[in-house]
Amino acid sequence: MPGEPDKLTIIEHPLVRHKLTLMRDKTTSTASFRQLVREIGMLLCYEATRDLELEFIDIETPLQPMKAPVLAGKKLVFAPILRAGVGLLDGMLDLVPAARVAHVGLYRDPQTLQAVEYYFKAPEDIAERRVIVLDPMLATGNSTIAAVDRLKEAGANDLKFVCLLASPEGVDRFHGHHPNVPIITAAVDERLDDHGYIVPGLGDAGDRMFGTK
Ligand code: URA
Repeated sequence: MPGEPDKLTIIEHPLVRHKLTLMRDKTTSTASFRQLVREIGMLLCYEATRDLELEFIDIETPLQPMKAPVLAGKKLVFAPILRAGVGLLDGMLDLVPAARVAHVGLYRDPQTLQAVEYYFKAPEDIAERRVIVLDPMLATGNSTIAAVDRLKEAGANDLKFVCLLASPEGVDRFHGHHPNVPIITAAVDERLDDHGYIVPGLGDAGDRMFGTK
């Protein structure tokens, strides 16, 4: 349908692809990995905000008056899924410093791979804002589905999901539950392994970002 956002956008910009390769490399240090997530976060934010509304205001340049565009319409909420989603947040806030932040604390039960909530705090006016949910990895889809369920329960009704890497299974499951939430990702990998890791992937994004393993 014309005007409908793509359900799945894979960012094929050379800078994103290059940085993702560095992140996949197991010899990349924690400090570099963290810096790369921040940089890719910024580039993905650029894409995820491509359809923000603009309005024209009157300004004066040093040479003459003009009508110039500024952001208008709904304000943004970034919603990182703790803990790895926090890595993407800084790059996003670099580009949109006035955005609000909703924290969604979920961990993945290693046995069942199900998402378990341990923290949730969102802006009160989330229903009037655009929400961009952040998590580097869309693996089984369980945590992303649970996070979007929880944000919708809090009133969110205009959502997108941004990740670094997705599995084909995760994309299908997520859109099975939330068909109206577009996914923006740097790549869709081959598959999930038996432990729910994305293959070839980049390992555990949280551990690599925070140096916990
Ligand atoms: N979470 C990660 O950090 N990595 C994966 O491959 C899957 C889930």
